[in-house]
Amino acid sequence: MNKAVIGLQWGDEGKGKIVDYLSEDFDLVVRYQGGNNAGHTVIVEGTTYKLNLIPSGVIRGKICFLGQGVVLDPNHFSNEYDQIAKKIDNPKVFLSSNISLILNYHKQLDKINELILNVEKKIGTTSKGIGPAYQDKVGRKSIKLYDLKYKNIIEEKLYSIKTFYDPILESFNESKINIEQTVKDLLCFYDLVKDLIVDNSLIKKEFKNKKVLFEGAQGALLDLDHGSYPFVTSSNTVSSNIVIGSALQVDYQTVGIFKAYTTRVGNGPFPSELFDDTGNYIAEKGVEIGTVTKRKRRCGWLDLVSLKYSCEINRVNELCMTKADVLNSLSEIKVCKSYNSKEYEDINFSDSEFLESLSLEESDFEFFSSWGEIEELSKYETLPDNLKKYIAYIENYLNIPIKIISLGPERNQTIIR
Ligand code: GDP
Ligand code: IMO
Ligand code: MG
Repeated sequence: MNKAVIGLQWGDEGKGKIVDYLSEDFDLVVRYQGGNNAGHTVIVEGTTYKLNLIPSGVIRGKICFLGQGVVLDPNHFSNEYDQIAKKIDNPKVFLSSNISLILNYHKQLDKINELILNVEKKIGTTSKGIGPAYQDKVGRKSIKLYDLKYKNIIEEKLYSIKTFYDPILESFNESKINIEQTVKDLLCFYDLVKDLIVDNSLIKKEFKNKKVLFEGAQGALLDLDHGSYPFVTSSNTVSSNIVIGSALQVDYQTVGIFKAYTTRVGNGPFPSELFDDTGNYIAEKGVEIGTVTKRKRRCGWLDLVSLKYSCEINRVNELCMTKADVLNSLSEIKVCKSYNSKEYEDINFSDSEFLESLSLEESDFEFFSSWGEIEELSKYETLPDNLKKYIAYIENYLNIPIKIISLGPERNQTIIR
């Protein structure tokens, strides 16, 4: 059966590591949304791979495909491809012809969008031009990969883009769109990638009978519609976007992935956030620094209320819990089980004002004791009882089995039940 690995929190749950692990049993690994705002780290026998666009299946030599729901920055893609080609022989990476491109002015607009907001309203984006690129897609202005075959089409599209955006760019002292240079760069890029492009009409034939693993980017709580709006990313991260974003008309089982605690990069509500030494300790031990922007990730206890919501909106079949090892030595570990004594009903997770207004009480938490060192363990049966209790509590709350447990960043620090 095809599978999807989907983040259930605010991203960085360890999707890259688990996709790499699982991809052994699949032929094709597919990204269906997002762009190089994603940062996926995989460590195999001491070698670290940092991927933003290319699915983690590339490390095992699997066929990788970026579907039409992805937004692609040509410069970034070329660099990432070159980097991975230094480590992996002949990486098999293909791009949907329908992909919308991120151009330089999208990054300028990303900056301007943030600039005009008051401090407390800033999103804290990755500055990669993601929001403006999706805005252009929805606004029917995108330059698509299939456009790159025709110089006159690129020029024509850029002309209207320039007419629309130059006044804004100019008023913020940003450089205006240079059509000549952009056309030159895009034609040059097309020359490099034309053999990697799969026309959408050929996807069915090209990937026939392949066993597919879908790699989510970001997380459910950053979903444009389901997440804490406006502190979200600009794509639908949830599993229901898979068929649209990949154009692969297939069924799949969904593996929902979460950390044993919670992190968030950027701004927006975070009900179980820790502002004390414990939060700093988790950040340090878990090396919670953003892969893309190097910002410190905010840390807090595991939040089962939002996790239950994420499982529901993703129709999760099984769970994967990562980074339990980070909590090893804490004398007391907490799990958020309610907001203001309410479990789940009637909470609109898209309403950031409401989420910001919450202040959790001790009674909103369940308490657990430390479980000690676990990094070397390789079988579920050998896990300490305190960790088993933690796992059982979560499974019981969510009513979904935790089938994969990750106890360290290395590929082999993974337990399957
Ligand atoms: P992604 O965006 O969901 O792929 O996650 P990131 O790669 O951005 O962040 C997860 C980080 O945690 C990476 O540095 C991983 O190497 C690391 N990691 C993944 N699983 C584990 C784990 O079980 N324990 C520890 N200590 N680190 C992990
Ligand atoms: P992975 O795939 C964590 C966050 C940004 C910001 C918000 C909007 O590694 O889990 P954007 O640049 O997308 O417009 O920023 O979304 N964000 C992520 N946070 N992990 C990610 O990806 C993220 N991608 C975007 O920090 O708050
Ligand atoms: Mg990440």
